Amino acid sequence: MNDERYVPAAGHHALTRFYDPVMAATMRERTFRAALVREAVTAGPLTILDVGCGTGSQSIALADAAPHAQITAVDGDPDALARARARSAGRPIAWTDALAQDLPLEDDAMDCVTASLLLHHLSPSTRLLALREMRRVLRPGGRLHIADWGRPQDPAMRLAFLAIRALDGRQNTADHAAGRIPQIIRDAGFTDVRTTGRLRTVLGTLELLEAT
Ligand SMILES: C[S@@+](CC[C@H](N)C(=O)[O-])C[C@H]1O[C@@H](n2cnc3c(N)ncnc32)[C@H](O)[C@@H]1O
Repeated sequence: MNDERYVPAAGHHALTRFYDPVMAATMRERTFRAALVREAVTAGPLTILDVGCGTGSQSIALADAAPHAQITAVDGDPDALARARARSAGRPIAWTDALAQDLPLEDDAMDCVTASLLLHHLSPSTRLLALREMRRVLRPGGRLHIADWGRPQDPAMRLAFLAIRALDGRQNTADHAAGRIPQIIRDAGFTDVRTTGRLRTVLGTLELLEAT
């Protein structure tokens, strides 16, 4: 048992029901989700793991773009998972209640792992454990695709990012604000780490990253 705070989708459990409308209003959601899906499905993966799937928007977009892939979607919040399941309208996604730092999956089981807006919910030590778990379940040559907050591009983005930092935790978001996430992904054992896109949003600079 540790005393680390579990940070749910919208920062507090009572706010989870507002998560989807706030995302739609603030995050250029269609643009970043489509970009992440495009990058993740290019190589035609047969097995995809979406970690920290929350209310399911990214997992559902992946399932629609790769209808023949087996998709496993993991989150540690049963309320978010129930919302995801209810929205998934029969899509064959394996919604799984588990923690990112302790994935209930075999080594080398996945062709592709995605995590959108998960990493800034984790403390630095848990984030490293979670990334190592993602690496463990990826087959050799498998690809990691991340969408998460990056170093703000300018003072306006730095100001915008203060709201997320207050809601989700200053400690959890410090590496994002400092632009250290690519190096942390390398530290977890990934290679070929690349930033593939940067988007200005109402809440800060969103980065797309990929790695092998
Ligand atoms: C901001 S939401 C992102 C949800 C979704 N990926 C998306 O793009 O909309 C972050 C999610 O991470 C989940 N989460 C936080 N800590 C976690 C952990 N240790 N293991 C698994 N999920 C976690 C939360 O429950 C929440 O649903």
